[in-house]
Amino acid sequence: MALAKKPIGVFDSGIGGRTVFREIRNLLPSEDLYYLGDTARVPYGTKSPEVIRRYAEINVRFLVGQGAKVVVVACNTASATALDHVRAVFPDVPIIGVVEPVVGYLSTRPEAENIGLIGTPTTIGSGVYQSALESLGRTIRAKACPLFVPFVEEGIVSHPLVDQVIDYYLAEFREVAIDTLVLGCTHYPLLRPALEAYFRNKVHIVDSAAPTAGALRDLLVRFGLSSDPSGKGEERFFVTDAAESFRRIGGRFLGRPLSAVEHI
Ligand code: DGL
Repeated sequence: MALAKKPIGVFDSGIGGRTVFREIRNLLPSEDLYYLGDTARVPYGTKSPEVIRRYAEINVRFLVGQGAKVVVVACNTASATALDHVRAVFPDVPIIGVVEPVVGYLSTRPEAENIGLIGTPTTIGSGVYQSALESLGRTIRAKACPLFVPFVEEGIVSHPLVDQVIDYYLAEFREVAIDTLVLGCTHYPLLRPALEAYFRNKVHIVDSAAPTAGALRDLLVRFGLSSDPSGKGEERFFVTDAAESFRRIGGRFLGRPLSAVEHI
């Protein structure tokens, strides 16, 4: 099969990467998309970089085995800790993460001067976003928000409890009047309405999805890997555990019900 006809592989630790998947689907309707949620090993955000590198390698190997022409690491934690590793292990496969596209997007927004960054403990601990944004001359404050992921997974995204947790973590960002908030975790876009309300719509909120989908489109063009634009892309969903809950919860991330989910 010609390389351009092959699918794009996308993986996340679980369901969060579906916020990125959704944007890729909107931007690239003719591409076949294979999504792998590593639901047996989620969460990544509290694990060490060494362990995440091992998991990421397994995930890329699976997607490449399914014929993926490119791979998107749709997880901030894996992008921050394992991108160089998987690129080194699979030198023939173009692989993009979510951190570089977000930093690239912010580089085009000089008005983003006073940036707040939120993510999992491992993403924040890696310092990858911070050093990239500081090298652009921006002021950056970073905060790990480990309670956000379980709230989102429970579907609790609009509730006084959520507002309390947001205040617990982010009061300091409000005090220093950040102008931009980077959602450095693929779960957090579901908290966007609550975060916008908390910052009284005065803060520009940036998440991984649109910059990553745009970077993927550019990459396909650069490598001559775009599929025939007249076709309609197919989708396959794979999980490493509990396909039923992935189907149920994952629909929220995708904004529509899911059909088949394959347990591998
Ligand atoms: N998807 C992960 C991320 O973007 C968050 C969930 C997890 O901890 O695995 O960092």
